[in-house]
Amino acid sequence: MLLKGARAREIKDSRGEKTIEVEINGCKASSPSGKSKGRYETPSFHKSLKWNVDFINKTKFDIEIDEFNDLGKVEKFIKQKAKLKNVREFGANALYAFESAMLKAIAKEKGKELFEIVSEGKTIDKIPVPVGNAVGGGVHSHNKEHPTFQEFLLIPKEKNVKNNVRIMKEVYSKIGRLLKSKVKNDEGAWQTNLDDEEILEILKKFNNVNVGVDCASSSFYCDGEYNYKNKKLDRETQIHYINSLIKDYNLLYCEDPLEEEDFKSFSKLKKSEKNMIVGDDLTVTHIDRLKRAIKMRAINAIIVKPNQNGSLLELKKIFEICKKHRIKTIMSHRSGETMDDALADYAVGFQADFIKCGIATKWREVKLRRLVEIEKIV
Ligand code: PGA
Ligand code: ZN
Repeated sequence: MLLKGARAREIKDSRGEKTIEVEINGCKASSPSGKSKGRYETPSFHKSLKWNVDFINKTKFDIEIDEFNDLGKVEKFIKQKAKLKNVREFGANALYAFESAMLKAIAKEKGKELFEIVSEGKTIDKIPVPVGNAVGGGVHSHNKEHPTFQEFLLIPKEKNVKNNVRIMKEVYSKIGRLLKSKVKNDEGAWQTNLDDEEILEILKKFNNVNVGVDCASSSFYCDGEYNYKNKKLDRETQIHYINSLIKDYNLLYCEDPLEEEDFKSFSKLKKSEKNMIVGDDLTVTHIDRLKRAIKMRAINAIIVKPNQNGSLLELKKIFEICKKHRIKTIMSHRSGETMDDALADYAVGFQADFIKCGIATKWREVKLRRLVEIEKIV
């Protein structure tokens, strides 16, 4: 098909903050936005959201697009037209929404599913396992007394997505009752004033889910110290503490347990098939930081946020590198989400091991529903 032009407009995400939606041949795609951002993340827009909207609305593209790799032609064109050194300078939110709308348009033209365009005809061997945020703390909390860690995650153990989603929801409701919590944070996770280990004690009781945490530790690290509610730990004691939490609470998943600069300390954490040390703020979905993390043996799993990078071509490379180095992949939403369900297609199309997209709230549920739908198709 010939990509002539696109329409862009400003929309609001689930937190009521501004983000971008792009429409190509009747296919709409939008970008979520983060709040717990890594220092090295690609900026969301070039000069401003308005600049990107105007650029997209005014540009005549005239590029033939028929398959995933044609994103290369479009990225080259954008780079030249906007006079950028690297296409990511266009802004990750804007680029992701644009590229996603383009792939949806190709899928529609060919009568295919979006994930089929992304997988480029390769066999789909697995459907990613959902990872859901059940209890919230850190910067996503509105209450004054809150857990230090940002997310307490449920990873169900069933083989198929439909049952996994059901179990995740059941456990999530039970946790709400156990916490006697009625308030949810901006991602739909329960709010509580219990501390980290008290929450992990509760989660440990459920046999049908594995447990994970996103420590988001850059958010409580300052000048060599990790500042908890009731204690301060230096680098070495933080490493010991995290290793002991993994052992005591049988954590399958531990995201950003150390601050985003400290590749070296990450490499000292114990890693195995049964315990993933996950990079998010550390790696910010950038190839160079992923390569550095692999070289230093800092992680054995990585969060992939499409709008942390912007380029779906780079995302493809990231998945290839991870496969080669046996790094587990977790395709992830952002805390400020839109109703776009394409994340499920990208998770399946790139063959991610997991998909982190929350449990409750309509913005999270559309992605889980799409995942169940895809499971029926493949
Ligand atoms: P976000 O981060 O608020 O930037 O989406 C969530 C996370 O740390 O995983
Ligand atoms: Zn994170």
